[in-house]
Amino acid sequence: MTATVRVIGISGSLRKDSLNTKLLRAAMELLPEGMTGEIVPIGDLPLYNPDIDVPEPVRRFRDALARADAVVIASPEYNYSIPGGLKNAIDWGSRGEDSPLMNKPVALMGATVGMWGTVRMQQAFRPVFQYLNMLPVNKPEILIAQAQQKFSADGRLIDETARQLIAQQLKALKELALSQKRQ
Ligand code: FNR
Repeated sequence: MTATVRVIGISGSLRKDSLNTKLLRAAMELLPEGMTGEIVPIGDLPLYNPDIDVPEPVRRFRDALARADAVVIASPEYNYSIPGGLKNAIDWGSRGEDSPLMNKPVALMGATVGMWGTVRMQQAFRPVFQYLNMLPVNKPEILIAQAQQKFSADGRLIDETARQLIAQQLKALKELALSQKRQ
């Protein structure tokens, strides 16, 4: 029997009606057999400051990451880049020899009301993954453009092509995580 791959899901948007949180929920539903998912909130993390003792929300966030074999991030693009709140969460997760992000497989996806599907945000993540020696799934890319048309009124992702691509990306993430576990 193959081991279960535990996934932590992070949304880069704090908005209640966020398209990216809906996208992340869709991804959690599309996880292949043998993967379990849990979404962790990042809205309660204070701004990164190495002078303060590690706050309780940060400890919980890092513990959740440490328990996970892989990370799924669904994020908007803000000003052609990574939203500040998400970057702040990554910064908290990145510190120390025991960083729970270091060497971890990661799948990145994004939804925007614009035409470019968060491609610039995803490119902005590349050096971050590189610094943390994270292992991003390179293909397929999940770029959901004009996302307001791609969810039903009750928040379900209704674009069949997107659903298929997400399923493929998550399968690739599972393989990556399993190959890491075997090492
Ligand atoms: C945006 N938006 C946006 N869209 C885009 O395609 N490229 C961009 O650079 C930006 N920049 C940007 C900055 C800020 C501060 C905001 C609030 C918005 C639009 C963005 O894609 C849209 O608001 C999404 O709906 C946000 O994602 P959530 O909150 O629905 O997940």
